[in-house]
Amino acid sequence: MERKTTVISSEQLRQQQEFCGRIRQRWEASGVVPTAFVDTYGCQQNEADSERIRGMLEQCGYTMQDSEEGADVIVINTCAVREHAEQRVLGNVGALVHTKRRHPGQKIFLCGCMMGEPAVAEKIRKSYVHVDGVFSTHHLWEFPSLLYRVLDTGKRVFATEDEAGSIAEGLPVVRSSAFKAWVSIMYGCNNFCTYCIVPYVRGRERSRKPEDVIAEVKELVESGCRDITLLGQNVNSYGKDLDCGVDFADLLAELAQLPGEFLLRFMTSHPKDATKKLFDTMAKYPKIARHIHLPFQAGNDRVLKEMNRRYTAAQYLELVEYARSVMPDIVLTSDVIVGFPGETDEEFEDTLKLVEQVRYDALFTFIYSPRTGTPAAEMPDPATRQEKLARFDRLCAAQNRISEEKHREYVGKTVRVLVDGIDDGVLTARTGGNRLVRLENGTEDLIGQYADATITGANTWSLLGKL
Ligand code: SAH
Ligand code: SF4
Ligand code: F3S
Repeated sequence: MERKTTVISSEQLRQQQEFCGRIRQRWEASGVVPTAFVDTYGCQQNEADSERIRGMLEQCGYTMQDSEEGADVIVINTCAVREHAEQRVLGNVGALVHTKRRHPGQKIFLCGCMMGEPAVAEKIRKSYVHVDGVFSTHHLWEFPSLLYRVLDTGKRVFATEDEAGSIAEGLPVVRSSAFKAWVSIMYGCNNFCTYCIVPYVRGRERSRKPEDVIAEVKELVESGCRDITLLGQNVNSYGKDLDCGVDFADLLAELAQLPGEFLLRFMTSHPKDATKKLFDTMAKYPKIARHIHLPFQAGNDRVLKEMNRRYTAAQYLELVEYARSVMPDIVLTSDVIVGFPGETDEEFEDTLKLVEQVRYDALFTFIYSPRTGTPAAEMPDPATRQEKLARFDRLCAAQNRISEEKHREYVGKTVRVLVDGIDDGVLTARTGGNRLVRLENGTEDLIGQYADATITGANTWSLLGKL
């Protein structure tokens, strides 16, 4: 497949900054400090994009607020991965008619993965006329000029043309946490798993240059960031499009040798591209979290083949075995789809079997959702919703039992955690393996700090700990 990555030039980005300046001037002239609200659906990739959107909005003079009501600009960053996600977005966008009526100057923008689906963009154009602007992920960096056009002309803008894919370095960013950060190391996906819409809406795989990633991580660590997650749809194929001799394991090793106290995480890893070198690298450097999110999707080889995953259950298990041989304490999590078209009850048993064999620390389980335009949406799907739900329930029950058993193994142990927030008056923290710990003691000033916690209790979802 042809790969054509457009690197957005500094001249193009400078032009966008000019639009930011013009928007700021408009508001200054009117004596109003404008406000904006950014709402995010979907995965960490979208969270990371929203941080850039907030960055651009701040450069335009906007102050962030945390609700739609009264905001001068609303941006909804959407997810297309499952039908349910899309329905939620459309429902909420529909309700904005009323919000806008109460604040007529309000400008509403939709962006993110759903806007990469031509049919959705068309639906917004026709039926959601209170939406002022739409842009797909390829056009994220152009947001200031789009916003300017809407403010200046009052007309709606649509920037949804499909592009080969772009990389824009140096966009402004407002991070949502001072001590946890997302760093996209690549964009797009080339894998075309037959159920998945992501390659269609996010374009082909393109890697940022290692030096750009290293500079960003270095800056984060120097500013006190403790927990850095490298993002990509398939981080294991990082660098393949760059021909610079650096693969993902090399990049990780470089980053893990930066000075400072921090932990590196990454997601997602496609099993077909996970290498022994990757696991050896993880084992070698203490600054790489001993956690891998390694989606297996299904335990049956025929289903895996139909999904175009390009590994077998045996190959997957071999990888897990190797990972555990070099890191016995590694935390394993995964994604799995129940009810892929044509999956039989017997084939589903293989998924259960794999779950029992691997014993994941946590599992993200999804019922297959047909996505228009993907090959799987055309496949015969005789199983009923009831049958799929019954499989789903069995899988969840098995995993809940395993999660609880695995969590119970922590009781009595002392683990290093990063205190990361407060929930219902209880301090929360994360282990190196990203397990949630609810703390019995400690004060808010610990948030953002590492601490040692003795685990005193456990359930399916979390651990209980004492500092
Ligand atoms: N790039 C990542 C995941 C992207 S989407 C990867 O390859 O693992 C996150 C998860 O959503 C996928 O792992 C998959 O389990 C699930 N998913 C994707 N498309 C889906 C669909 N059409 N129906 C149900 N689940 C889906
Ligand atoms: Fe979707 Fe597969 Fe790409 Fe993940 S690897 S984003 S599941 S196509
Ligand atoms: Fe959703 Fe797009 Fe992420 S479809 S899961 S927000 S890549």
